[in-house]
Amino acid sequence: MRRLLKSGIRRIAGADEHQNETLQPTLPRGQRNATVVAVAAQKGGVGKTTTSVNLASALVRNHGLRVLLMDVDPQGHVYTAIKKQVHPGGGALSSILTDERGGREVMEIVADTVLDGLDVTPCDPRLSGAEDLLGTRIGKEFILRDALQITRTHYDVVVIDCPPNLGNLTLNALVASDFVLVPCDPSPLAVNGVDALIGTVSTIANRLNPNIDILGLLMTRVDGRNTTLNQTVRSQLEAAYGEVMLDVDIGINNSLSQAQMAGLDIFEFDPRSRGAKQYTKLASMVNELLNG
Ligand SMILES: Nc1ncnc2c1ncn2[C@@H]1O[C@H](COP(=O)(O)OP(=O)(O)OP(=O)(O)O)[C@@H](O)[C@H]1O
Ligand SMILES: [Mg+2]
Repeated sequence: MRRLLKSGIRRIAGADEHQNETLQPTLPRGQRNATVVAVAAQKGGVGKTTTSVNLASALVRNHGLRVLLMDVDPQGHVYTAIKKQVHPGGGALSSILTDERGGREVMEIVADTVLDGLDVTPCDPRLSGAEDLLGTRIGKEFILRDALQITRTHYDVVVIDCPPNLGNLTLNALVASDFVLVPCDPSPLAVNGVDALIGTVSTIANRLNPNIDILGLLMTRVDGRNTTLNQTVRSQLEAAYGEVMLDVDIGINNSLSQAQMAGLDIFEFDPRSRGAKQYTKLASMVNELLNG
């Protein structure tokens, strides 16, 4: 029985070797080595997409970086937010993540944009079904990391906009990432959400991705009029995560939501707005942290 099993294993392994030969990635390696940044928060509506889009855009516009903006959220809000700036083309990320044969690369499905240096993954509602399918695959946490192996050699930074939960897609994003940027709005429940995410990141650091680190905690949608609530939340966060709180806040700014509705980044929609200035500052800080 053991002999039969062994020869069976040799046969299956042989078949796999052969299959790998035919699945050698055809994409050429680039000369870069991207830092991968996941923008993640368990809580919905805290500005993950707004931050991902405008951070990615500012890194291209002001720092001359080549950036891939990935949308792993089935809601597809990245595309909605900058649809006027995305060229037609690209494909479905879900087809890369659920391809049983493996060896596929995210780069195969990206679309380019009006900004030279910014590529995006198009919106893909089938990511929702992919989330369930991922759960059934062996090594399910590493699928996105593997699909970025060659892709990341073509970019300086990969920014991943995550869905508002800690499911398989967020897990894949975190395992593929070097850093996590955590947006947090000044609401009473914000601190719980940050605790849950940082707990998940430290479990991932212990078990799946020892390289992951927190890039920073970013206060978003700060309402200048509600100073008492702002101060309460800020002091709770500072007590727990003072070291990683970023020295820039994103205030409530209607231009940011209007830009999203118009399908343009804030720098195209209203470059003189407060939102544009604050995201410019954030990108400079992130650029320094990534280089330091
Ligand atoms: N600083 C801001 N000022 C005003 N409106 C904002 C600001 N940031 C985000 N918004 C608006 O708030 C809403 C939620 O923002 P966004 O989509 O970025 O959050 P999210 O965390 O990605 O949400 P989800 O959890 O659904 O993915 C959007 O309508 C957006 O335009
Ligand atoms: Mg979003």
